[in-house]
Amino acid sequence: MPNVDETAPQERQVIVSAVGLTKIFRDFWNRPKAKAVNDIDFEIREGEVVGLLGPNGSGKSTTVKMLLGLLYPTGGRLTVFGKSPRDVDTKKLIGYLPEETYLYKYLTAFETLDFFASLFHLSAEERASRCEQLLDMVGLSHARNRQVGEFSKGMARRIGLAQAMINDPSFLILDEPTSGLDPLGCKEVKDLIKLLKKRGKTVIVTSHLLNDVEEVCDRIIVLYGGRIRANGPIDELLTIQANNTITTPSLRPEAMQKILDTLKEVVPEGNFSFKHPRMTLEDFFLDIVSQAKKESLETSGAQSGGQIASYLTGTPKEDAEKVLLRLSKERVEEPPEDAEAALQKELEQKQSEEARKRQDQLFADLSKQASETMEARKTREQEMEAKQQLDEANRKLQDLLSGKGK
Ligand SMILES: Nc1ncnc2c1ncn2[C@@H]1O[C@H](COP(=O)(O)OP(=O)(O)OP(=O)(O)O)[C@@H](O)[C@H]1O
Ligand SMILES: [Mg+2]
Repeated sequence: MPNVDETAPQERQVIVSAVGLTKIFRDFWNRPKAKAVNDIDFEIREGEVVGLLGPNGSGKSTTVKMLLGLLYPTGGRLTVFGKSPRDVDTKKLIGYLPEETYLYKYLTAFETLDFFASLFHLSAEERASRCEQLLDMVGLSHARNRQVGEFSKGMARRIGLAQAMINDPSFLILDEPTSGLDPLGCKEVKDLIKLLKKRGKTVIVTSHLLNDVEEVCDRIIVLYGGRIRANGPIDELLTIQANNTITTPSLRPEAMQKILDTLKEVVPEGNFSFKHPRMTLEDFFLDIVSQAKKESLETSGAQSGGQIASYLTGTPKEDAEKVLLRLSKERVEEPPEDAEAALQKELEQKQSEEARKRQDQLFADLSKQASETMEARKTREQEMEAKQQLDEANRKLQDLLSGKGK
């Protein structure tokens, strides 16, 4: 099997194909409310890292939700791995990080990952090993036994990312993966995406952080008002063909003078400029942090992630074959309906357990609130009574002073 990186993108397997894809949200009376995605065509091929960009409300998340089969398109045709996005086999190949991290707040970080792992029928041993590796990778090993409801936004994002990778998916859909992360966390996510690309994974990333997108994506699709405004390889779209930049090591003044003289000769009207290159703010910041770490300064915040989970680091070739093998095994060994029923049963069991826990907590919260309200009412009544007594005493005193009380 050829390494995807060596094959031209046009020759690789089509992972996503959208033709005339449209999504119109309607109001209660079925009148069109928002044309979130408006007749768009695009394709994503195996091994590509594609950035889906656009201002707020331009249709990124709606597109992503249609790819996942969470929303039905109003029009057009959409296939993922050649099938409907609702196909169960297709879902097994996808890892998804939602825009908002939805977590059961009473589960610990470890239990959260274990819960998602259990949906993929992994053995208990494999589940435990993957959960530990992922927690280490996203820098949350120290918080493995804390309930995720207590997590900061960045920590919740990290656990969400770990969850998206639990099934070692071939296609990852990451909706704003770096939102809420500190620059170290952003760098780790970018490194992770680069690693996933090296392993031949296909990735869609939506983000408002354009520098991050520029660093990791091969191609970008820019949406505005639900329509595609630009779609192409990032190098092609961003390279300004009309200009050149030459970078040299530091030069002696004579050498510099020579170059200037030549430039004056060959560039009409002295239409050129030169300056020292600048490092990015991100590099500068990361330098400072790594310096502080070397000096063993303490921080009480999130820790940086550890090693990339070993089950995610196979070579691309092995991986592609493993995925095929796993898929063919799953198809032969598990009749899809039974597997789906078992999965559904397991999910329902977990959900009812969760619902019970949530109900208990809700009940506890409500009783607490009720007793607090009773307490407040009692205090208010006592205050009213005291005020009435005081008014009465004042009235009597007034009467006495004015001689009425005699
Ligand atoms: N469930 C919904 N019901 C009604 N309208 C919706 C719904 N979801 C999205 N929309 C509308 O669809 C349009 C596109 O929304 P979408 O969430 O896809 O944007 P986005 O590009 O992801 O924006 P952001 O950058 O803010 O996340 C918006 O006008 C939004 O109000
Ligand atoms: Mg969005």
